[in-house]
Amino acid sequence: MATLISRSPEETLALGRAWGESAMPSWIVGLSGDLGAGKTQLVKGLALGLGVTARVHSPTFAIVCEYADGRLPLAHLDLYRLETAAALQGAGLEDYLLAPRGVVVVEWFERWLDHGLPVDAARLRRVQIETVNANERRISYDDTGA
Ligand SMILES: Nc1ncnc2c1ncn2[C@@H]1O[C@H](COP(=O)(O)OP(=O)(O)OP(=O)(O)O)[C@@H](O)[C@H]1O
Ligand SMILES: [Mg+2]
Repeated sequence: MATLISRSPEETLALGRAWGESAMPSWIVGLSGDLGAGKTQLVKGLALGLGVTARVHSPTFAIVCEYADGRLPLAHLDLYRLETAAALQGAGLEDYLLAPRGVVVVEWFERWLDHGLPVDAARLRRVQIETVNANERRISYDDTGA
């Protein structure tokens, strides 16, 4: 597991950008962290690194936002409002988590796992973002996958 400290929103953006630049197909990035931890900020960087030109915002109301104009397709999922197994299973997200095509990045990813739902990707990066103080975040991540 790797751990680093981000000292500003810009540093988190830059980390995401580096990940996006080296992203491979069929990659799931599962993000966990409290409200305002910086999950969406990291996704904005990922999108930049993939060359997505659209502005990324939180898909909290849409659940999924897809961006097709980067080097790889990017799907941005936000599970915040899906609190039960039934809601998670009824949202039509299986394909993203069982057969990801490009890069699939998931906010509140722990919801999926905590309900025992399956994930299958060639590559999976689990990321935990902790708020240290107003500007500092501790970002830890671990790579697994099939
Ligand atoms: N080091 C940092 N990294 C990332 N964001 C930071 C940092 N320091 C301060 N911030 C601020 O924290 C907030 C992070 O917001 P963001 O929407 O990315 O969080 P989130 O984890 O997606 O929250 P939510 O669970 O509501 O979706 C922003 O206002 C950002 O400016
Ligand atoms: Mg968010």
